[in-house]
Amino acid sequence: MTRLRGKVAIVTGASSGIGRAIARLFAAEGAQVIVADVTEDVVEGGEPTCRLIADEGNFATFVACDVAVAAQVEQLIETAVTAYGRLDILVNNAAIHGGKPLLETDEPSWNRVMDVNLKGPFLRARAAVRQMLRQEVNGDARGRIVNVTSQHGMISAPEDFAYGVSKAGLVYMTRQIAADYGRQHIVCNAVAPGKILTGKTGRAVEPRWLAYSEARTPAPRLGTPIDVARAALFLASEDASFVNGHNLLVDGGWMAA
Ligand SMILES: NC(=O)c1ccc[n+]([C@@H]2O[C@H](COP(=O)([O-])OP(=O)(O)OC[C@H]3O[C@@H](n4cnc5c(N)ncnc54)[C@H](O)[C@@H]3O)[C@@H](O)[C@H]2O)c1
Repeated sequence: MTRLRGKVAIVTGASSGIGRAIARLFAAEGAQVIVADVTEDVVEGGEPTCRLIADEGNFATFVACDVAVAAQVEQLIETAVTAYGRLDILVNNAAIHGGKPLLETDEPSWNRVMDVNLKGPFLRARAAVRQMLRQEVNGDARGRIVNVTSQHGMISAPEDFAYGVSKAGLVYMTRQIAADYGRQHIVCNAVAPGKILTGKTGRAVEPRWLAYSEARTPAPRLGTPIDVARAALFLASEDASFVNGHNLLVDGGWMAA
């Protein structure tokens, strides 16, 4: 369990769900993890991510950060660099849903989804790449970014217009960063989850959406956070040395069917 030994990793939205699983796995693989979230409360219940990681004998610290606010994002990167001297991995995971089709999407809701899901990754990538370009190559890269997108960034997101558009933008952003900074040893990839059961309640597990997801997923089960975390680990590690600008589906075959 040493694939990220000596690496410093920020995972946004890591208090809950998929981000929490990524933070735990990265810490178990030897990374010093910074959990960046608006809250330490765990959507699906349980003890805060940093405490859980400490219980597992690994290292993580919490930084309160609204990922849509530029000043807080700059502060987040600075906190990591001040504490640990560099930033090797940024996982852009935090996101929200609008939960409405086009005609019911009002401007404030559109703006908030775009601020969190698209402007946030832009702000963090900009601050992170700026820092990474100042660092020496560590292993095979100056730094790696893993964006958490969605299969709904490639096909329509039912009744979730702004969310789908934001995820499509993030897939594009992944390629653009990889293309623009690859020569300088910056690696930027994405992982695109299909339907993942995180333990959260509400719209995500309404019977009609579960039935829809099961019908769309060729695998005999829906996904779990660790399925996505393992793919994120691959992209954040030197196992993915020559992978850049890729959007890796972890969807049980949804997009193949
Ligand atoms: N669960 C799925 O089925 C699924 C499918 C496809 C893609 N995804 C993507 O995976 C990622 C994680 O999804 P999840 O289901 O684990 O989400 P979740 O709602 O369980 O957790 C999201 C986390 O992000 C945090 N967050 C929200 N807004 C924030 C902000 N402004 N600043 C900082 N933190 C903020 C929340 O506090 C929470 O801890 C998201 O990018 C989501 O779009 C999830």
